[in-house]
Amino acid sequence: MAILKIAILGNPVLRIAAEPVKNIQAPEIQRLIDDMIETMREYRGIGLAAPQVHRSLQIALIEEEEADPRSSKGVSRPLTVLINPRITPVTDQMVEGWEGCLSIPDLRGKVPRFKEVEVQAHDRRGRPLQLKAGDFFARVIQHEMDHLMGTVFLDRMKGFETLTYLDEYARYWARQEDEG
Ligand code: NI
Repeated sequence: MAILKIAILGNPVLRIAAEPVKNIQAPEIQRLIDDMIETMREYRGIGLAAPQVHRSLQIALIEEEEADPRSSKGVSRPLTVLINPRITPVTDQMVEGWEGCLSIPDLRGKVPRFKEVEVQAHDRRGRPLQLKAGDFFARVIQHEMDHLMGTVFLDRMKGFETLTYLDEYARYWARQEDEG
């Protein structure tokens, strides 16, 4: 396995729609998935989409560790590999929450997302996969799906008033969130 280089904002690969994966079982696709897993863990991402490692393919990973302060409290999510995913909102209800992105280092901002979504995809063996996700898990899924369409979280913000560097997030925003 290998740690891959992350494409950061400004790289055109982040701004184009990714191609569907035709042969999920192909060794080069399996290897890419393995490398993406290693890359996501190395950089402590909660999610990673193939365009972020310079591959314009519809592959996204999500993994939430229980200890992660960014995740819903006490919830962990085992590694989920989504290939050629389609997403449908289950509700009209939107919730605002903080997001960051490995491709937009050091920044965080508040983004409105659907509270609940349904996902249809294939897993890494090519088997059909269907799941319902709510709250933070739904947020991460929507963030990763956006990467597959050439969209980043900045595009989804209602305004940039909450856009903040990580140090300032810790200093001015995280505490306020804890308290209220
Ligand atoms: Ni991202």
